[in-house]
Amino acid sequence: GQCPTLSDMAGRGTRSRDWWPCQLKLDVLRQYSVEQNPLGGTFDYAEAFSKLDYFGLKADIKALLTQSQPWWPADFGTYGGLFIRMAWHSAGTYRAVDGRGGGGMGQQRFAPLNSWPDNANLDKARRLLWPIKMKYGKSISWADLLLLTGNVALESFGFPTLGFGAGRPDTWQSDESVFWGAETTFVPEGNDIRYNGSTDYVARATHLEEPLAATHMGLIYVNPQGPNGNGDPKSSALDIREAFGRMGMNDSEIVALIAGGHAFGKTHGATNAVLGPPPEGGALELQDLGWANSVGTGNGDDAVTSGLEVIWSKTPTKWSNDYLNSLFHNNWTLTHSPAGALQFIAPDSTLDYPDPFNGAPRHATMLVSDLALREDPIFSAIAEDWVNDFDKLTNAFAAAWFKLLHRDMGPISRYLGPEVPKQQFSFQDPLPTVSYTQINDADVKKLKAEILAAPGVTISNLVSVAWGSASTFRGGDKRGGANGARIALQPQVGWAVNNPKQLQIVLNALNTVKTSFNNAHRAKEVSLADLIVIGGCAAIEKAAAASGYTIEVPFTAGRVDALQVDTDISTFENLNPQGDGFRNYRNSSGWSLARTEEILVDKAQQLTLTAPEMTVLVGGMRALNTNYDGSSKGILTEKPGQLTNDYFVNLLDISTKWSPDSTGELFTGTDRTTGATKWTATRADLVFGSHAELRAIAEVYAEAGGQDQLVTDFVAAWVKVMNLDRFDVKN
Ligand code: HEM
Repeated sequence: GQCPTLSDMAGRGTRSRDWWPCQLKLDVLRQYSVEQNPLGGTFDYAEAFSKLDYFGLKADIKALLTQSQPWWPADFGTYGGLFIRMAWHSAGTYRAVDGRGGGGMGQQRFAPLNSWPDNANLDKARRLLWPIKMKYGKSISWADLLLLTGNVALESFGFPTLGFGAGRPDTWQSDESVFWGAETTFVPEGNDIRYNGSTDYVARATHLEEPLAATHMGLIYVNPQGPNGNGDPKSSALDIREAFGRMGMNDSEIVALIAGGHAFGKTHGATNAVLGPPPEGGALELQDLGWANSVGTGNGDDAVTSGLEVIWSKTPTKWSNDYLNSLFHNNWTLTHSPAGALQFIAPDSTLDYPDPFNGAPRHATMLVSDLALREDPIFSAIAEDWVNDFDKLTNAFAAAWFKLLHRDMGPISRYLGPEVPKQQFSFQDPLPTVSYTQINDADVKKLKAEILAAPGVTISNLVSVAWGSASTFRGGDKRGGANGARIALQPQVGWAVNNPKQLQIVLNALNTVKTSFNNAHRAKEVSLADLIVIGGCAAIEKAAAASGYTIEVPFTAGRVDALQVDTDISTFENLNPQGDGFRNYRNSSGWSLARTEEILVDKAQQLTLTAPEMTVLVGGMRALNTNYDGSSKGILTEKPGQLTNDYFVNLLDISTKWSPDSTGELFTGTDRTTGATKWTATRADLVFGSHAELRAIAEVYAEAGGQDQLVTDFVAAWVKVMNLDRFDVKN
């Protein structure tokens, strides 16, 4: 139906952003509020999951695979292929660069993902699963169910998976924080703006805009017909390498995933049907189903999904290496599917690639992107090795599939269920298991005093280092955080944002305290990771005391120290921030074209902060003088190092007139009457006075009662950040 643009109902009409398109968006800081969660704020998914009849659920999924429904008949008598694709597309949106996307939140249910062209007909897969979701209710989330179903499908085909970790609570709205690209059209109309307009498919492949992983809007990864449908496997390989690389998959993982996944099922392009709108654009009566197909039955052997018509293997419902056999032992000719899409056929191949419904066998077929595994020298060396070594392929696919599904789960302590593998994987950023006794409250008190007395430490550098340690956390993939003390390891120890020289002074002091404590106790130990956080607590307590507040910053012991060998330097580099407005840091040579204040909000979103939490943390940290470089930018106080509300009072003071420098990044505040310079500040400071909503929050901390509220709120927000990765105590 037509969108009633003239509707005068709630939420319609032009909005502020239509008038002022550059307005800083704070919406990403108010997602997933308790109020819009139908399960309520106290719902504990881990507890609900503990009541799940896990193996009963798996048996039901297995039975469902072969219960073909007339409204969407199963190919080859099983929904296995469709469900594996559903799981892969759910997990496959993950990007290692910013940790966003992925299957961890059940986002495939919501727009835009539910309506991406690449996700065509996965609405049917989810609808097929609905009776099972209904039966098990809250004890299994959609997020877990979509992935577990793919796992069960693989097992039903005789594939030995490594197991499954559940533990992904559902969300109830589209995740608005993910930058999916700036295009306004989907593939195939999608243009090449994420390649800066270049259509040189070789040169551009490694210049895909960060943090994106897919080559075009609406694709999970790459165009199956080659870049922009050019039919060329060689340049397709370059796109595949780049796109899969963006989710942390290397060459052999890429080959394993494609050769493993395309061992099953088929593609759908039997006719040149013009499909109806995707679910999000569908009429009410379609009930969230999309891609209506009016040719023939519109399903079964008339189904059209991608418009490609390929059956990769002679055994599409049984784990075998027939995909690779076919790829390497057939001669391929470029052709068109019945729907007109470019694909390959092996005209002289045997006629025993089974039809899904009528049993009439076909010749071998492949996608252009499949031929990439044969035409690219690096991919083909790996793949050819596996043609004759099925066990190697099996092991490689099992590991890569497990990684695909669990890549954004964070630490192993988040995994639930009876099938969690004992083995730890490097992508889980492993932490050692320790057997020593943890420190108690009395120890913490003593340690605080020792830290504050240590040479070289100050309130500012202790707070800055504790922040640097904890604030690497990313809510998207649960990587980073203070546990592990990875700030003392490569690559974090050398990051500019951490001011390596200052960091070393603090680490040396804390390591001395650690050694002396651990030497003095037999079975009890303190970790560097805990000491970094304790240092922050001690510094904040001292800063609060200096402004007249006796407080104790809550602390939970139990962090451990990671090893360098368990710290994957290249993927950890993705956590190196483009900017950290909390410490007034901006990497001017980075990939991001964003404004400094947008980077601040982006980081706050990664830290799962609300707008008030972001505001009070910036104001409090400025008061504590924690700029990464020790500069005075935004330190709007005469008493740096005391926990005051001076930052807000001075920022909102009309007697200061602010003027930008030529870069627009640095501002000087002068006395309106005398013209004397009073302060300097950055965009990450002035935004709290210029953005109407942030200003409204800043006023709360500047007005009467604001000082008390700042101390309380700052400590609460600080403790939240320090504990963001403490799944070990939350579970
Ligand atoms: C189906 C493309 C990687 C699993 C398909 C289809 C396309 C496609 C176009 C047909 C959809 C349809 O018309 O029904 C690609 C491309 C990939 C890729 C371009 C990367 C270069 C993967 C991976 C997996 C996978 C990594 C799993 C590990 C599947 C399965 C099907 C499928 C199981 C069959 C679905 C069914 O039987 O209904 N793929 N794919 N694919 N894909 Fe992929």
